[in-house]
Amino acid sequence: MENQPETTVRRHRRIIMFPLPFQGHINPMFQLANLLYSKGFSITILHTNFNAPKTSNYPHFTFKSILDNDPENRRFLLADFAQDFIHTQDHADALRHELKLLASGKDEPVSCLITDALWHFTQSVADSLNLPRLVLRTTSVHSTIVYSSIPLLDARGYFTLDDSHLEEQVVEFPLLKVKDVKKIGIKSSKDPYAELIGNMVKQTKTSSGIIWNSFKELEETELDRVPHDFPVPRFLIPFPKYFKASSSSLLEQDRTIVPWLDQQPTKSVVYVSFGSLSQVEEKEFLEIAHGLVYSKQPFLWVVRMGFIKNSTWLESLPKGFPGERGRVVEWAAQHEVLAHEATGVFWTHSGWNSTLESICEGVPMICSSFWGDQPLDARYMSDVSRVGVYLENGLQREEIASVIRRILVDEEGDEIRERARVLKQKADESVMKGGTSSESVETLVDYISSL
Ligand code: UDX
Repeated sequence: MENQPETTVRRHRRIIMFPLPFQGHINPMFQLANLLYSKGFSITILHTNFNAPKTSNYPHFTFKSILDNDPENRRFLLADFAQDFIHTQDHADALRHELKLLASGKDEPVSCLITDALWHFTQSVADSLNLPRLVLRTTSVHSTIVYSSIPLLDARGYFTLDDSHLEEQVVEFPLLKVKDVKKIGIKSSKDPYAELIGNMVKQTKTSSGIIWNSFKELEETELDRVPHDFPVPRFLIPFPKYFKASSSSLLEQDRTIVPWLDQQPTKSVVYVSFGSLSQVEEKEFLEIAHGLVYSKQPFLWVVRMGFIKNSTWLESLPKGFPGERGRVVEWAAQHEVLAHEATGVFWTHSGWNSTLESICEGVPMICSSFWGDQPLDARYMSDVSRVGVYLENGLQREEIASVIRRILVDEEGDEIRERARVLKQKADESVMKGGTSSESVETLVDYISSL
């Protein structure tokens, strides 16, 4: 579909949207904003100066920066992320002030506020102004449900089980192993990260609706539980099928990749990218590098500045790397790589945007995971959707090379590729007229119009 929405429609209602200032949260919010704009709403984006969006890519939106008065050390640096969220009274006051100004201005009447689910404090602000708030949850439905059960998992002692239990099944979520739940990164339901998630879940339940970047056919088995956990209107829309994420990229995308991909054989390239936040130790970095070389397949590897702990960029790579078969870049236009016929497999950290972008292009995955929802997504892709192989025991060069060859060279790859093709087809059908995602979009538009 077109990446530029229609701009000449007469607009009667405005939606105010407030993304969390991290790439994996900004992208889906802008995809949703473009979609709602294409359906005739005016859009105002509230944003922080930290990781501010490139406003010039969106001349059709209005932008307003807020939360600017924070002293430098309280900006939203990831390390302080959870802590910061616990003390949000200042943020609530700043937001209330802005929303009041927007509501009393000359623009179209405001229909609702849509914020990232993690901006939980926005619910009480919206309530105080009688403004409906919808939530965008940027993870899967499955991981949202697991997150809503964190107090239960804590009460049953999963987060503190010792390593002898890692391979055991989680009784309450039979799909998951204990190690998946432990890898979320929570020590108890009292730590700041768990408190943040707890608040997010609580305020999502009282919101006017929840929107997921997903589609019904992908998470059919999870949907039965949702009305119980989140008894509010629910909408599942696979954003990459409507708008590409690249126009909200915070980093410059290397434009020399496509000519290089053009020269590679069909479905031969391993595309490797671990998202915008993950980091590895130097030792793991070298295992990845050697694994890619050992695989003897062409590869395209995104190594973000700061990806290797205590290192700037590629200093630690052996001489002669990447050799003639590989390319290393700082940042890619991911959708172009996934859509290219040379790309045979995506080795991903299993962030939800990357996972869904891969599904929407029918590209099978090698799944790694670091923290948060990633281990849950990786497990789902390998054991439920079966469009990925989970590298669940760390990063070792021999295993990396062998998994790459299993997918790109061995017969096993044909089966995974076929399942990925079928899943992409389901995503395609879901956005056609009468399809589940298309209906979800229409229902969402009607719902917002009725508010
Ligand atoms: C994180 C979590 O991992 C994710 O599960 C959560 O839902 C949002 O926050 P991140 O780790 O950055 O996000 O991963 P991911 O969700 O995959 O988002 C990364 C985004 O960056 C994707 O939209 C991807 O297309 C984009 N990207 C990545 C690029 O544009 N270029 C690149 O080179 C790599």
